[in-house]
Amino acid sequence: MPSKTGLRRCERSSPVTPLHPFLVHFALSLALLTGTSEFFPGLRDRFPEKGWRLTENAALLLLLLAVLTGWHSLDTLALQNVTLPRQSFLHRLLAIFGTTTYGLLWLSARRRVPALPSGSRRMIALAGLLLVLSAAAVGGHLVYEDRLGTDFMRTAPPPAFPLP
Ligand code: HEM
Repeated sequence: MPSKTGLRRCERSSPVTPLHPFLVHFALSLALLTGTSEFFPGLRDRFPEKGWRLTENAALLLLLLAVLTGWHSLDTLALQNVTLPRQSFLHRLLAIFGTTTYGLLWLSARRRVPALPSGSRRMIALAGLLLVLSAAAVGGHLVYEDRLGTDFMRTAPPPAFPLP
């Protein structure tokens, strides 16, 4: 049915809500900012202390939300009989390890664990950055190559013999 603008109303056929793609870009930008600040401390000094604490909290919270919404996307797709590429499991693994690494960095900044020397913090930050950025690269591949979460996904063929 044509809408008021005269364009045909476009029904969305993908079962996936666009929450994950919406959230991940905020999570990634804050993860990049907080991760690189370990190598460029001048970056952190430009923020008031309270503002920086808030940024670190927001980065971890958004990464956790990215994991939750991603998990929900993958579950929804699996229930809809969509063919899940092997990379989707690699994406999940990289994202979970990356988020855990940021969690460790967050904990060490809160001094709830013994204070780490700056060299160790830098190694953890580098690992977190590489893991989260690799997860994002594989995520992009899932959408732009495998069309996951779009209206052009491939569904698994029906079984050759009907199930009893
Ligand atoms: C650190 C956490 C995560 C980051 C930064 C991340 C990043 C991304 C990015 C950048 C995309 C492409 C979005 C687009 O351009 O449209 C994507 C897609 C996707 N991710 Fe993640 N992801 C994360 C966690 C997860 C987890 C834990 C899962 C599954 C358990 C997951 C499942 C998916 C799926 C199914 C897609 C394609 C469909 C969709 O967009 O919903 N992600 N992800």
